[in-house]
Amino acid sequence: MEPSRVENELVMLPGPVTVSPRILRALSKPIINHRGEEFAALYRECVELLKYVFQTRNDVFVLSGSGTCAMEAAVGNVLGIGQGGKAITIVNGKFGERLKDIADRYGVAVPVEFEWGLPIDLEAVKSVLEEEEDVRTVTMVHNETSVGMLNPAREIGKLARKHDALFILDCITSIGGIDVPVDKIGVDIAIVGSQKCLGMPPGLSAVSVSERAWEVIEENGKKVPYYMDLKAYRESFEKGQTPYTPALPLFFALREALEIIKEEGLENRIKRHKSMAEAVRAAVLSLGLKLFPKLNEFSEYSNTVTAVCMPNGITDAQLRGDMKRLGIVIAGGQERLKGKIFRIATMGNISARDVLTVIQALEIVLAKYNVIEGVGAGVEAARKALGL
Ligand SMILES: Cc1ncc(COP(=O)(O)O)c(C=O)c1O
Repeated sequence: MEPSRVENELVMLPGPVTVSPRILRALSKPIINHRGEEFAALYRECVELLKYVFQTRNDVFVLSGSGTCAMEAAVGNVLGIGQGGKAITIVNGKFGERLKDIADRYGVAVPVEFEWGLPIDLEAVKSVLEEEEDVRTVTMVHNETSVGMLNPAREIGKLARKHDALFILDCITSIGGIDVPVDKIGVDIAIVGSQKCLGMPPGLSAVSVSERAWEVIEENGKKVPYYMDLKAYRESFEKGQTPYTPALPLFFALREALEIIKEEGLENRIKRHKSMAEAVRAAVLSLGLKLFPKLNEFSEYSNTVTAVCMPNGITDAQLRGDMKRLGIVIAGGQERLKGKIFRIATMGNISARDVLTVIQALEIVLAKYNVIEGVGAGVEAARKALGL
């Protein structure tokens, strides 16, 4: 196959995602004074809209850094630097592991680990919480992107509260695409990344901070990360500013992205993500492929990224290389899952057109390597699932 010559590839990665032209246009606005009234209004608008998307009344701040920056902000502010703060870190994929690694740098991580792609056993978390003393926080990834699984936020939130621990939830690939009622669940620090369900370019993240979290953060004083000192963000926000120079063009894009979400309606957006993911799942199953995550009664398949076992007869390089030559970018497996799975994301402002396109291309590539016979079954299953 010829290399793809399309400039605007269809990016179906679990971030970064394809960005709508409307948001791209917002990126090109002239630079303004980040210490002026115009920026203050822009930032305040973004925060109000983010509160709607987070479903929270807690404070919300925007950080000029990717999701990992916000993960480190959350863990570093709560545990403090070298304060001996203890975190129960739940791991069933790459990003749960990252939260564990961050907790290890700032304080003491007590990992509750499961095989990547296996569901979280609530009893195991419960018993660690009962055994350990002085647990300051529980960390979990809501939508574990690396394995395509939605973890039980409500249940873990309840357990954390029962043991008087804060609940830090990585919602980097769920908020804006999956229902995450931050206040109802009782998430003390929730995190979102810009290049995922918000449909933006990469470079920004946002965190919500509860009253309970502030109490702990205040106790840590200056023993917190300098650039991500959340107390400094709170103080600056009173003036409509960020403590350090914000990534201005991305703030323009953020407002546009959030306005798109408001126009669509959060509930509709969540429904759309569900229907797109259902179509992808129906299509891959109709082709005889297997979904990667193993669920229990408290976990679900992710509605923002579908992880599929790599079938026999084709390699990762062949599958994703040929897709790319058709102008479509999908993800492989990460680290230990390299070559074992591929992942199709349904995040952000994608449409039925995008899902049908990716499924059709997938069928064409699988048929080329004789993994399936002929094309059409996948598109037909997706069509039905989409109700078209
Ligand atoms: C669940 C989850 N957490 C954290 C991250 C890290 O975010 P970033 O790459 O924006 O730093 C990702 C990125 O894919 C993610 O999917």
